[in-house]
Amino acid sequence: MRRLRLRSTLIPAALLLLIGLLAGLSLILGRDFSQPNLRFLPEMVTSVPYDSFDDNPVFADGKTLQRPVPGTIARGHAPLHFTAGDEEALRAGRELANPVAATPEVLARGARLYVAFCQVCHGETGIGDGTVTTRGFPPPPSLLAAKARNLPDGQLFHIVTFGQNNMPPYAAMISPEDRWKVTLYVRSLQTAGLQTSDLEASDPQTPAAEGAP
Ligand code: HEC
Repeated sequence: MRRLRLRSTLIPAALLLLIGLLAGLSLILGRDFSQPNLRFLPEMVTSVPYDSFDDNPVFADGKTLQRPVPGTIARGHAPLHFTAGDEEALRAGRELANPVAATPEVLARGARLYVAFCQVCHGETGIGDGTVTTRGFPPPPSLLAAKARNLPDGQLFHIVTFGQNNMPPYAAMISPEDRWKVTLYVRSLQTAGLQTSDLEASDPQTPAAEGAP
């Protein structure tokens, strides 16, 4: 019991003494607080590599951050080597193939996109009777007409990407993959339209042949 009490007074006293000693020592040694402490392995404190925006004597332009090598492709961004215009649309028709398969999920996504972006002009079935046409916008040609049916997928993709005359471009609003999906949905509208005989009759450009009796 006595021993315990002795220990419980000795420990705080020793600690106080130690703190006093350290404080006295630091006063006597005149520690300069503007300087960092002694650094163990200073290379680990101050980084050796250049920071992104540092000057850099190694490169010809004197900068650390270098431009990507010409032709570099960002992850997830397949380059599209086409520009706007009818010639380019025709070339896209010749050179591009739809990389997406028409599964039910893909068509459902295409339908969703069509309703959001195309229906307002092209109409629910694609015949070109969207809401804007009742408010003075010149009606677009029917997507069920022979001309649109005969557009290769790549050309249709190009039209959605870059627009065509009165039709605005959608590259900034619809991702490339989704543009292919909406292309497939337009195809499915065309197939559905072909099976609707009265639409067929109202389509002057449809050749009489093409599977119809
Ligand atoms: C602002 C109204 C508008 C919207 C929205 C619109 N289009 Fe068009 N689209 C047009 C017009 C107008 C044309 C005819 C352009 C022309 O005169 O060459 C056209 C032409 C087309 C053609 C070519 C048809 C042909 O016979 O040459 C396709 C294919 C097409 N649009 C698909 C789409 C798809 C797919 C979307 C949705 C992503 C869409 N359009 C959204 C107005 C629109």
